[in-house]
Amino acid sequence: MERIGVLTSGGDAPGMNSAIRSIVKTAQKNKIQVYGIEFGYIGLLEMKYKKLNILDIDHISTDGGTILKSGRTDRFKTDEGIEQAVKNIKKMKLDGLIVIGGDGSIKGAQKLAKKEIKVIAIPGTIDNDINVTDYTIGFDTACNIVINSVDKVLDTAKSLVNENPRIFLIEVMGRNSGDIALYSSLSGGADEVLIPEQKIDYNEIINNLNNKFKIGKKYAIIIMAEGAGKLDEVKNKLEKDLGYSIKSILLGHLQRGGNPSAFDRILASKFGYYAVQTMINKNQCGIIGINCNDIILNKFNNSKKTKSKTDNEIYELSKTLCH
Ligand code: F6P
Repeated sequence: MERIGVLTSGGDAPGMNSAIRSIVKTAQKNKIQVYGIEFGYIGLLEMKYKKLNILDIDHISTDGGTILKSGRTDRFKTDEGIEQAVKNIKKMKLDGLIVIGGDGSIKGAQKLAKKEIKVIAIPGTIDNDINVTDYTIGFDTACNIVINSVDKVLDTAKSLVNENPRIFLIEVMGRNSGDIALYSSLSGGADEVLIPEQKIDYNEIINNLNNKFKIGKKYAIIIMAEGAGKLDEVKNKLEKDLGYSIKSILLGHLQRGGNPSAFDRILASKFGYYAVQTMINKNQCGIIGINCNDIILNKFNNSKKTKSKTDNEIYELSKTLCH
């Protein structure tokens, strides 16, 4: 094995740079040259790639985003796109490819693996919605950003006491996954949490909040994942049922930037190292993951998150602490 490629694809996630750094350093130690493919699968289709040397990855772990840039393209969902990518991988003389990204990117990697390309996928998405790993790169940083933001809202929520309770509805990312909302609610202390995996029970929310107001609480924090519903609709419905006005806050892409947390840097470094070692030592494709603190290689299958026992437990725990 002499040359491998690496690309970052889909929604960028803090920590991706640590994975790239770890891949280049581990490869270099094994006398393998790494080529960075830019803009995700777009770069693979358009042959936009460059040699990655030690100076290119020097101290990049501190930066959010990805030095390779990321991208999304529908061309990669077509058979022609996959055929073109296979041809380009051969033209670039790559002996293997490491794909860092979320569910859609991993599906693309799986298609390449079916065409006899040696591919390893590393889960990188703030959403934490890949079922073969306990954690994905970027999730921890995103949760920290959310918690910091909620802490700030709490300062004003607790300080300014009006006649009516002050209620804040904070939308966090997670199109199909409630993990950022759940874990942030758990660590930040929300009064309610809404996630796409559970239908919103307005009666339960109203009862819970009114009970808190009855015993003298003057404010409430509700964290809602973007996939749980439309922010304005949820706000209007709650305002109508509660009879109080609500301030909505959309954290949006703030959650995808900033310095990666220690956890994400370390996780990404482990994933990168293991990905290269797997390429060298095993004749297998698949998805790297962390399971009970062990770094493992999973077979490509349906990587989309399905409800696990732990997820249900986290939901019950978060709800219990909300009340
Ligand atoms: O997949 C990660 C994610 O951050 C989702 O939580 C969010 O819905 C989406 O990406 C936003 O993507 P874009 O940057 O294309 O708006």
